[in-house]
Amino acid sequence: MRIPLELQTLLEDGIIDQVLRQLKSGKEASVYVVRCGAEVRCAKVYKDMAQRSFQQRAQYQEGRKVRGSRQARAMARSTRYGRKEQEAAWKNTEVDVLYRLVAAGVRVPQPFGFFSGVLLMELISDGQGNSAPRLGEVALSPQQAIDVHLFLIGQVVRMLCSGLIHGDLSEFNVLVDAQGPVIIDFPQAVNAAGNNNALAMLERDVGNITETLGHFAPELLATRYAAEMWELFGKGELTPETRLSGIVVEDEIAPDVGEVVHAIDDAREEAVRRQLGREAAQAG
Ligand SMILES: Nc1ncnc2c1ncn2[C@@H]1O[C@H](COP(=O)(O)OP(=O)(O)OP(=O)(O)O)[C@@H](O)[C@H]1O
Ligand SMILES: [Mg+2]
Repeated sequence: MRIPLELQTLLEDGIIDQVLRQLKSGKEASVYVVRCGAEVRCAKVYKDMAQRSFQQRAQYQEGRKVRGSRQARAMARSTRYGRKEQEAAWKNTEVDVLYRLVAAGVRVPQPFGFFSGVLLMELISDGQGNSAPRLGEVALSPQQAIDVHLFLIGQVVRMLCSGLIHGDLSEFNVLVDAQGPVIIDFPQAVNAAGNNNALAMLERDVGNITETLGHFAPELLATRYAAEMWELFGKGELTPETRLSGIVVEDEIAPDVGEVVHAIDDAREEAVRRQLGREAAQAG
């Protein structure tokens, strides 16, 4: 196994003691199992911007807070300095989000810091020191699928209550260990309030999870949790304790009662007018 430069730096600095194995080499990051003293942990090494498609990330960057207006202007202009700032913002997002979500009571890997491009975090394990299976890799009974769905919707609500949307939630970014599901992979997380694509991302996140679990419990496919939580969030009424129904009453399904009464009145008037017309014709 080739140990990347970033992990060699962490070894030299004594932040990690051993690189045990590689879990995954992806487009945007490589993930390793490492040892820190007696603890086995997970290290995510981010790739540099040149190796990623940055254009497609533009929608995610919207609304992300940067430290000052100088940085914001530089990022907008995409000067070399701006690109460096973008790079740093991208790499820092995941660790920031993990700390925020732990504080908000969302079950995510416990972060242990971010060091020269490497995120150190809790290894979500299968009990044998390997990575726990992904949601898409576990078989569930219909009742288990309903329970997992309820739990994950609750996690999405908690995230939204702390102002965040995952933005890439799917069966690939949920691990399942002995205690249940753990959401991972947050570099693209967005601020719910400052992003025009927020609702679309929330709908997609919830839709992906619902579709996966709908294979085991098809009744889940009719639920509409994203729209329901978004409406409450917009009114400032969403809390982690909010009990959602999964049902959204659409305008087409529940027509305006006043409109219907008018339509009936119009029809009645029209009938009366026609009747009067007929009577007048007969009299004449
Ligand atoms: N904290 C963790 N504990 C255990 N395994 C992890 C952890 N973080 C990541 N992994 C493993 O590494 C894989 C990739 O991690 P992650 O999704 O964070 O990175 P990524 O580069 O965005 O990958 P992808 O492109 O597949 O989404 C996960 O699917 C999982 O198997
Ligand atoms: Mg992933």
